[in-house]
Amino acid sequence: MPSACITGVGMYVPPRVVTNEELRTWYDTSDEWIYARSGIKERRWAEEPASTAELGYYAAKEALQAAGKSPNEIDLIIFATLSPDLYFPGSGVLLQHRLGLETTPALDIRQQCSGFVYGLSIADQYIRTGTYRTILLVGAEIQSTWIDYNPEGRTVGVLFGDGAGAVVIEACEGENRGILSTHLYSQGAYAMELCVAEPSSATRAHTLPGSYGMRPYMNGKEVFRHAVQRMGEAVQVALTHQGWRPDEVDLYVLHQANIRIVQAVAEFFSLPMERFFNSIHKYGNTTAASIPICLAEAEREGRLRRGDKVILAAFGSGFTWGSAALIW
Ligand code: UT7
Repeated sequence: MPSACITGVGMYVPPRVVTNEELRTWYDTSDEWIYARSGIKERRWAEEPASTAELGYYAAKEALQAAGKSPNEIDLIIFATLSPDLYFPGSGVLLQHRLGLETTPALDIRQQCSGFVYGLSIADQYIRTGTYRTILLVGAEIQSTWIDYNPEGRTVGVLFGDGAGAVVIEACEGENRGILSTHLYSQGAYAMELCVAEPSSATRAHTLPGSYGMRPYMNGKEVFRHAVQRMGEAVQVALTHQGWRPDEVDLYVLHQANIRIVQAVAEFFSLPMERFFNSIHKYGNTTAASIPICLAEAEREGRLRRGDKVILAAFGSGFTWGSAALIW
């Protein structure tokens, strides 16, 4: 049975930097509050007209180049996003067309901040069963267009950013590396604690103007509490499954929602923060894109080397969460 190996990583963030200071144009907030509560210094915003598929395309191109693959060698595209270009169809088919492909299957998944880990798990299964040999997995988001710029939107509005990350996952035999295990969870009891409720099949389109529904809602404290617990559990299950001690892992890459969540997990496992790769200070929370963006930067900075033991973990809206253990 082949293993699923990440053979190329890529990322793209829009050039426009939005500092905490600039957010004061809309919100009663401060650099001190945002940095102390979340670890964020700045984020990127896409210029309009914005396209999530287009951000994904730039990241995908970089990942394909790194893997030495051309688009027509892709057997399946998996596109993870909570901010698709259209209500339907998903951005995966738009990316497929942009890549110049004719009939390559494209699968969109909607697991929000856990989208990349879920996507990795799906790719792993397809490759292990021999169905596909080369899969492009993209996590991309444009969130600056749904942020609530009214004063009451500040708690959520300061956290999110735009960006994309991508990996090429290939079948590899006899290389002693690849995805070792993935562990997925969800708990729909908490679906309404972090959501954008509209556009929705529950609401008639003509009721939309003036309704609250299109603005994001987050019960920050509740989400934070669950995120710390679930992310810790997800890391633990991956460690237990592999029989690894926490300090044996070379690099942890956790979804970038709040640096205090990463710090809490590091503390729980008595690990130094240096074992965790973070980029939240530069990009904010880029949801499905945050883990692949970290992987691309970590590799670029020499923090990820062939043979390294790596654990990925994410938690987000749904609630959904999960982890993956791999040898780089
Ligand atoms: O990616 C998906 C997963 N998402 C997460 O994991 C996010 C989880 N939640 C969090 O990261 C944190 O809950 C937040 C960063 C969103 C908020 O941090 P907090 O420490 O829970 O703050 P809070 O919501 O309790 O607000 C504390 C105070 C409040 O004022 P009062 O009531 O104490 O007077 C807020 O009104 O801070 C105020 N506040 C702000 N002040 C300045 C809320 N947002 C802001 C803001 N700037 N942007």
